[in-house]
Amino acid sequence: MSNLQATPEWQWVPQVSAIAREAGQRLREFFAQGVETEYKGEADLVTVADRTSEKLIRERLAAAFPEHGIYGEEGTRERLGSRFRWYVDPLDGTTNFAHGFPQFCISLGLEDRQPRGEAVLGPDEDGTLVAAVLYDPMRDELFAAERGRGARLNGKPMHVSHTPELSESLIATGFPSRKRHQNPNIHFYQEFTLRSHGVRRAGSAALDLAYVAAGRLDGYWEFNLNPWDTAAGILLVEEAGGLTSGFSGQPFRLDSREILASNGPIHAELLGLFENMFAGRDLAPLLTPQEYAARRLERAAKSGQ
Ligand code: IPD
Ligand code: CA
Ligand code: CA
Repeated sequence: MSNLQATPEWQWVPQVSAIAREAGQRLREFFAQGVETEYKGEADLVTVADRTSEKLIRERLAAAFPEHGIYGEEGTRERLGSRFRWYVDPLDGTTNFAHGFPQFCISLGLEDRQPRGEAVLGPDEDGTLVAAVLYDPMRDELFAAERGRGARLNGKPMHVSHTPELSESLIATGFPSRKRHQNPNIHFYQEFTLRSHGVRRAGSAALDLAYVAAGRLDGYWEFNLNPWDTAAGILLVEEAGGLTSGFSGQPFRLDSREILASNGPIHAELLGLFENMFAGRDLAPLLTPQEYAARRLERAAKSGQ
């Protein structure tokens, strides 16, 4: 199949990719020169780069799609009664950015708030995510998806991993920047670390989701995120063949305070661990290396390898 035939008929991705790349160029410049940090909360940082990127994205989106609404982390609230709404994180990974740690991105997710052609949904109702563009300016990686048209990384189809179980998985999480002492995630971090190949805490929720979509991570969870962190990444994971939900398996919602995403095969195991921990049950003892080796051999024998 030629490249041309393999390229889906994107409706929004080409224009939005150009906007994300332009904002990414500005972020690269700010990153090279260094920026001062301000505090929005306890450990919640913001910089001139966040604000400049959001202004640029807001202006470009309004010019490209004058009817669309925009909901941005740095305060943009425009045309929120519209059918389509962009969730904009102009710089996801601000703490990394401020410290010179090159792991951050721009995340743009589009929601259709009139998916069945009826009335526009009420403020508390979730629409359907229909497009995602997520750009990592340091690696020049552009992750994109549209509902029903698959997910791509720099134009090439991407797919979640096939890792069959948690003990062979690389997963990721993050920690909230507000009310950190009231959050239980450190306990989950410990358990998942001991039961997997490791848990990465790289500091950009949106990129974590993109990496699940790209098969670089097998799973990801986090508490207390906002729609601008998750809108694009959720669609990337789903279009790349993965699963998303809350911690009890309920459908993911943009306003839910919990997110679990995986390649699919390990989802039930992740949910089981959440269920047991929330119920305060004793967890299954960790496998010894010998038990683990025996299980691997057994599985290989069954699949005839
Ligand atoms: C943060 C990052 C981080 C996550 C935080 C988010 P920001 O977003 O995604 O990985 O753990 O909860 O707030 O503030 O850098 O856009
Ligand atoms: Ca964010
Ligand atoms: Ca941000």
